[in-house]
Amino acid sequence: MNEPHLIVLFGATGDLARRKLLPGIMHLLQSGLVPDSRIIGVSLDDFDDDSFRDFAEKAYREFNTRKVDDAQWAEFAPKLSYINVKAGPDALASAAAALEDELGGSPRRLHYLSVPPKAALDVIHTLDQAHLVERSRIIMEKPFGTDLASAKALNAEIHEVFDEQQIFRIDHFLGKEAALNILAFRFANGLFEPIWNRNFIDHVQIDVPETLSLDGRSGFYEGTGAFKDMVVTHLFQVLAFMAMEAPTSLDSDSISEEKNKVFRSMLPLDPKFVVRGQYQGYRDEKGVAADSETDTFVALKAEIDNWRWAGVPFYLRTGKRMAEGARIISIAFREPPKSMFPAGSGVGLQGPDHLTFDLADASRMSLSFYGKRPGPGMRLDKLSMQFAMQETERAGEVLEAYERLIYDAMRGERTLFTTAEGIERLWEISEPLLADTPPVRPYSPGTWGPNAIHQLIAPKAWRLPFER
Ligand code: BG6
Repeated sequence: MNEPHLIVLFGATGDLARRKLLPGIMHLLQSGLVPDSRIIGVSLDDFDDDSFRDFAEKAYREFNTRKVDDAQWAEFAPKLSYINVKAGPDALASAAAALEDELGGSPRRLHYLSVPPKAALDVIHTLDQAHLVERSRIIMEKPFGTDLASAKALNAEIHEVFDEQQIFRIDHFLGKEAALNILAFRFANGLFEPIWNRNFIDHVQIDVPETLSLDGRSGFYEGTGAFKDMVVTHLFQVLAFMAMEAPTSLDSDSISEEKNKVFRSMLPLDPKFVVRGQYQGYRDEKGVAADSETDTFVALKAEIDNWRWAGVPFYLRTGKRMAEGARIISIAFREPPKSMFPAGSGVGLQGPDHLTFDLADASRMSLSFYGKRPGPGMRLDKLSMQFAMQETERAGEVLEAYERLIYDAMRGERTLFTTAEGIERLWEISEPLLADTPPVRPYSPGTWGPNAIHQLIAPKAWRLPFER
């Protein structure tokens, strides 16, 4: 790439901007990955340039995951400016023009829409009126719409202003180092792909329990809930990485095509195989309706009806205020056709062997299997082989998910972004659930969700909690 950029950050005083985007943009500039750029923060708050810089500095000091560096901050701060969205498109246009003059030439523009779905179209129109569409790319935050009709309408309206090639729909789970490692693991090795199918795999679990609650995001969360916040977005995207066929190359069209084939093969969700939950106390949270039916938890069975995966259930589970925070993909292999090791031989045979991807920042992979317990006789132990990214020499080079994706969008690299077609198909398979939504079941904070999750997966069992 490396052209200078004008970055216009809508939702600049929101939670995501504070935690991830402002510290991430700063790191990209400081690391030299991104050339000289200017950033305009836009939001509804009454800030000016100075108070926005103070806000961003606090965010940097609190959420930057690397060593805080005062000199680097001092160099970055003057590149930030602020404009209130109420000032209108003309004010935005002249602020942009002044900064582009500072950068010189015709810098590229990156508009980051860190705003709720309802506000996205207003921002698109503001950009159009401010004549900031040319030379620009936009990053859009999920959820993209709230059902099939709204996603289609949103895509159609955005396409009136921006070409599909300019639109980068972000799903930060796909920017996680460990998620990308799924592709390397599957397609850079000859060992695993031959067993990556219904003949060898019994079922797959994708489990993203979180201990945190709303963190002041009730306004967003009440209208969204766990299914739309996490499943129709992150968990389905990760599922596609696990399930897709080998792409013809790693370019974005090939990968999107294979992911979209997975989405096309997914069966519509059956509400009978969906458990929605709400943690006790949720309705007392600030900004939550006393009779709220918002799901803070969801577990479901997804099915991919193709040659590779027919008959292999994918169990997905995520929720707030659960017992532990984790991001685990767990592949359970079929058991051997004949067992010569009776129960009672050491651990005996307790369920299948597993391959586990831990998508946490300190990411890991492990393969669990049975082996002989040392000593007389033939007794078994469950053993495991592990890879821990944090223990590798290059652990310090990891880019955070948002950093990687912003960097990719600036380069016009679309591989890790989602397409309009894929998103619409995911809403389409969600239609039966949205039309016939099961009631939320209460669960106690600090647990693994409502009891009904066990019937969902029986006679198999949820893998978490497990010893790592
Ligand atoms: C966000 C959701 O997209 O992902 C949050 O809106 C969730 O509700 C978060 O907590 C989880 O992301 P991560 O990277 O912390 O696993």
